[in-house]
Amino acid sequence: MDQAQNYDVLVIGSGAAGMRVALGLADQVKVAVLTKGTHEDSSTFHAQGGIAAVLDDTDSVESHIHDTLVAGAGLCDEKAVRFVVERGRQAIAELAAAGVEFTTEMGPEGRLAYHLTREGGHSHRRVVHAADATGQAVSNGLFKQASSHPNIVMLHHQVAIDLIRERRPDGRTGRVLGAYVLDKTPGRVRAFTAKITVLASGGCSKVYLYTSNPDAVTGDGIAMAWRAGCRVANMEFTQFHPTCLFHPRAKSFLLTEALRGEGAVLRLPDGSRFMPQFHPMAELAPRDIVARAIDHEMKRLGVESVFLDISHQPADFIKGHFPTVYKACRQFGFDLTKAPVPVVPAAHFTCGGVMTDLEGRTDLEGLFALGEAACTGLHGANRMASNSLLECLVVSAAASRAILQELPHIEAPASAPAWDEAGVTDSDEEVVVAHNWVELRHLMWDYVGIVRTNKRLERAKRRVDMLLMEIAEYYGRFRVTSDLLELRNLAVCADLIIRSAQSRKESRGLHYTLDYPRPDESQPPQPTVLTPPNYPA
Ligand code: FAD
Ligand code: SIN
Repeated sequence: MDQAQNYDVLVIGSGAAGMRVALGLADQVKVAVLTKGTHEDSSTFHAQGGIAAVLDDTDSVESHIHDTLVAGAGLCDEKAVRFVVERGRQAIAELAAAGVEFTTEMGPEGRLAYHLTREGGHSHRRVVHAADATGQAVSNGLFKQASSHPNIVMLHHQVAIDLIRERRPDGRTGRVLGAYVLDKTPGRVRAFTAKITVLASGGCSKVYLYTSNPDAVTGDGIAMAWRAGCRVANMEFTQFHPTCLFHPRAKSFLLTEALRGEGAVLRLPDGSRFMPQFHPMAELAPRDIVARAIDHEMKRLGVESVFLDISHQPADFIKGHFPTVYKACRQFGFDLTKAPVPVVPAAHFTCGGVMTDLEGRTDLEGLFALGEAACTGLHGANRMASNSLLECLVVSAAASRAILQELPHIEAPASAPAWDEAGVTDSDEEVVVAHNWVELRHLMWDYVGIVRTNKRLERAKRRVDMLLMEIAEYYGRFRVTSDLLELRNLAVCADLIIRSAQSRKESRGLHYTLDYPRPDESQPPQPTVLTPPNYPA
């Protein structure tokens, strides 16, 4: 056990949400930002398409709000949508001021303006981007600022394990005091204490066998908050991105929706288009509809993939707008400029998460949650493309202001109970962890995927219950490792997804079940809220 680390604010995660909240705080207080790997091991770094914001004179905030509500299939919280969308222009201006270089073009009046692309569900061109590597530009820009700020300590290769709760004299638990953290290099556990702890640890798409997400996205923050006593909402709504490269070595590499925004179409193996039969917006329909249509066609024809075709556009245009995707495809032997490339859907985004208000407050005192780990109500039953980075930036900025107001009224935590390693030994059965990882991700893909049924969900639930028991037993006996911690968190998230899916007796947005194939119109749609046994804690 190492010496405790004390900060004003502890931020877990260095994606857009974590770095933006830290930057909003650091001129006044001391902040530690922990991350499992480096800032590059985040969804933020891998984001491609861009950030949705109303910047064009022919567009309007009302239109962006309307499109978001339509994509969210009746389940968005309109207040959250308005809050985020109204602050889009400001969020982009802040990034530009921080040196993020977005793609520009010469406007009609001879002035340089941002090039705005289009993505699914958007009725206007409103996606600001840095070619097709927007995430890299944003992540590197924020990282440069954060890592050079004297009040921000960026700590890499640190895995937060669990939140630390205050023990009151009457034995009850109180505010969140920080977190226990595994330092990966020497493999030791340290306690980090802080007046406020912020979970900015991303979603949980890694719970599925095929995902566009990087390896770090294992739902750690959602599981930690749940164990500590926070409610979670809308966990059944996993978004499957329609177009990931189909190739055994491509690890579901994303082919950005902006390709379709710039004219790419989806084709069956015989070359025919199919999306016009599914939706009037065809390839630019909301993502749930496109992913489901692809799934339907693949199953109907018994084929391994469909094809994305932008080869009708000039080669220079493709290489100029999509240099990252073009290069990646070339590595796998495909040339976007010449022929269609094979694509399949893969798990991409967690619409649900830890329930928060619009400043990131959770159910627990001293704990905030931001970004993909949180559920503010913005995304409803299906997130609209490029609204996620926007949410990260806007809500994290609001959270930093709220935290600065709260901090003067909070006493620094004295100390944290020591991490208890009594009775644990080094594991001699790592193979169990590896095996359970594979089993969990397979069963989620097979039984809790794009199309669900009661029977499949029941089957998945039985298996996940067993895995949860095995993992708990293993966790109690052996010294923690990064793989074990991630498996434990993924299993919790899998359980939350299945239970949420089982409780929704309708199809809505991303949750589609053959047993209830239509939305339930008999009552106003409600979010799915799961309450942990230790709530209110
Ligand atoms: P992340 O960026 O995922 O960061 C989470 C951080 O938490 C990481 O640093 C991780 O290492 C750390 N972490 C996790 N667990 C722990 C732990 N236990 N201890 C310490 N650290 C931990 N959205 C858009 O709006 N526009 C796009 O164009 C777009 N494109 C995308 C393309 C891809 C390929 C992917 C995967 C996603 C894309 N998204 C896009 C979604 C968007 O990128 C994410 O929703 C958003 O970046 C999430 O940001 P975040 O800060 O909440 O989490
Ligand atoms: C993409 O570029 O297709 C991803 C955009 C998003 O997830 O918002």
